[in-house]
Amino acid sequence: MPHHVQGVIAREKGAEVERTTIVVPDPGPGEAVVHVQACGVCHTDLHYREGGIGADFPYLLGHEAAGVVESVGAGVTDVAPGDFVILNWRAVCGRCRACRRGRPWYCFNTYNAAQPMTLDDGTVLSAALGIGAFAEKTLVHAGQCTPVDPAAPATAAGLLGCGVMAGLGAAINTGGVGRGDSIAVIGCGGVGAAAVAGARLAGAAKIIAVDLDAQKLEQAMRLGATHAVDARSADVVEAVRQLTDGFGADVVVDAVGRPETWKQAFYARDLAGTVVLVGVPTPEMMLEMPLIDLFGRGGSMKSSWYGDCLPSRDFPMLIDLYLQGRLPLDAFVSETIGLGDVEAAFDTMRTGDVLRSVVVL
Ligand SMILES: NC(=O)c1ccc[n+]([C@@H]2O[C@H](COP(=O)([O-])OP(=O)(O)OC[C@H]3O[C@@H](n4cnc5c(N)ncnc54)[C@H](O)[C@@H]3O)[C@@H](O)[C@H]2O)c1
Ligand SMILES: [Zn+2]
Ligand SMILES: [Zn+2]
Repeated sequence: MPHHVQGVIAREKGAEVERTTIVVPDPGPGEAVVHVQACGVCHTDLHYREGGIGADFPYLLGHEAAGVVESVGAGVTDVAPGDFVILNWRAVCGRCRACRRGRPWYCFNTYNAAQPMTLDDGTVLSAALGIGAFAEKTLVHAGQCTPVDPAAPATAAGLLGCGVMAGLGAAINTGGVGRGDSIAVIGCGGVGAAAVAGARLAGAAKIIAVDLDAQKLEQAMRLGATHAVDARSADVVEAVRQLTDGFGADVVVDAVGRPETWKQAFYARDLAGTVVLVGVPTPEMMLEMPLIDLFGRGGSMKSSWYGDCLPSRDFPMLIDLYLQGRLPLDAFVSETIGLGDVEAAFDTMRTGDVLRSVVVL
């Protein structure tokens, strides 16, 4: 029997999100229905609502979630009803050219549920990042369910499902930050603050947080930043250089994703350093740069999808570090809200005083 549950959708481009009844089918082969317990509000949900990601409205939003598997379809053996799982939006296929070459974090054929969720009238919903977890229940591919230690609360665990993993991984996996390195992070929302926490976990010596918002900078300092740069008053490139003996940081993470912040990241970086773009640009954004600077400054310009993570490897490990008190996931949960408060959470995101609003179901 399909489940009729409450969910939060973006019906059309730019319109306020609405809470409504959605229909979640029983799981087919390879699928699972998950009872969602908590789902963080990520900037990518706002990008969806604004039409920045695609035009397949209506979207069922929410993609940073943890919950308990309720039922599984035929052939599912890796997860079972009752398992506490973090939902991931890159269930690797194991067979594509990236997977076959031993680089599954680049998988080009990630799995999502085959059946759609719908509105009551049958309108097919597009699930944000193939998840759609601002809902009491959601249908996913079983590979999108990563079991972790149920001792972790869902509010904290769910954050690993997107923003915190993206930021941590941008610093550690994509940027390769390690002991003694210097790093600057431009934009310290949920994603950037996680890059700061990741850099601390990896042993970075100098961690420079950059934001337009004083409270974000304070939070970043609490999470391990050694220096803060207020981008409203300071020249970001100059400030980062001054803090790194005039050279620039080994790694600079752009967790905003705009041409101007990417250029700051590029020039705030030491020769042969690494720029990591983790913020998501919109299709109309263009970059104009002297090509000679790309050559002359050397190093690498990378993008980070989901922190180049491998959910099966990274989620259980990071939950273990959290339970040992070494990864402060609770510090990212600024407020818990209900399903009806997602639109308000977008406003709060814009005004700048939360790392994450987390919907609790
Ligand atoms: N690559 C991925 O896999 C991935 C995953 C999750 C989110 N994202 C993207 O990462 C970005 C950040 O997401 P979030 O949830 O942390 O957003 P957020 O809105 O919580 O944080 C953005 C932060 O950037 C700051 N900021 C904005 N403009 C700035 C500027 N010019 N200079 C310095 N700081 C500035 C804001 O004050 C805010 O603190 C978004 O674009 C989101 O879509 C990417
Ligand atoms: Zn996200
Ligand atoms: Zn693959």
